Amino acid sequence: MRIDIVTILPQLMQSPFSDSILQRAIEKNLVEIHFHDPRDYATDKHKKVDDYQFGGGAGMVMMVEPLALLLDKLKSERNYDEIIYMTPDGVRFKQSIANQLSIRENIIIICGHYKGIDDRIRQQYVTKEISIGDFVLSGGELAASVVCDAVIRLIPGVLNDGTSALTDSFQDGLLAPPVYTRPAEYRGWKVPDILLGGNLKEIENWRHDQALQRTKERRPDLLKD
Ligand code: ADE
Repeated sequence: MRIDIVTILPQLMQSPFSDSILQRAIEKNLVEIHFHDPRDYATDKHKKVDDYQFGGGAGMVMMVEPLALLLDKLKSERNYDEIIYMTPDGVRFKQSIANQLSIRENIIIICGHYKGIDDRIRQQYVTKEISIGDFVLSGGELAASVVCDAVIRLIPGVLNDGTSALTDSFQDGLLAPPVYTRPAEYRGWKVPDILLGGNLKEIENWRHDQALQRTKERRPDLLKD
């Protein structure tokens, strides 16, 4: 998979890809990440990428031309399955969207800034608009990092234990059950006996019951879906 990230702050996005699982995914060539700065496509001598909005109002808007030139260049080099714009008014990101994106070949993610991007880019290029929640971030970079993390960990071979992504919260529409590790008792706090017994069928049933109970208590909305 190849992800092209359009951002005026590429340095802000370095660290999620320089550690742990995402770093290993890149080293194993399971994913390629490329950053592109719209400033490199600005046509005036000040490298201007934002301007006042027509009609007045506070806040700058990212200009159409640098983004259009950048996106034209990328699209001339390969076919993209999705051109995603990170925005609080997009569809709410969830596991099923991460699953869909994880089997795509090439995607572009555009990070907005200020008041957002000129709407003509959304109309002419963007195929999917994603929000990571009902709050406004200073820019799309952190949101794009969240999406990349959720997607990349699902690519086969990225996690050491291939089954572990399948047992995450949300993968079966339920929250994950509680987990424990050694020691079996600490300060009198005991691990449930059933997990120590070795009966795999009973353990699986117990986990399912716990997952269901947690989901009922914490996220009853998931059960309606
Ligand atoms: N950009 C700013 N806020 C955002 C949000 N909540 N989700 C996605 N992109 C954003």
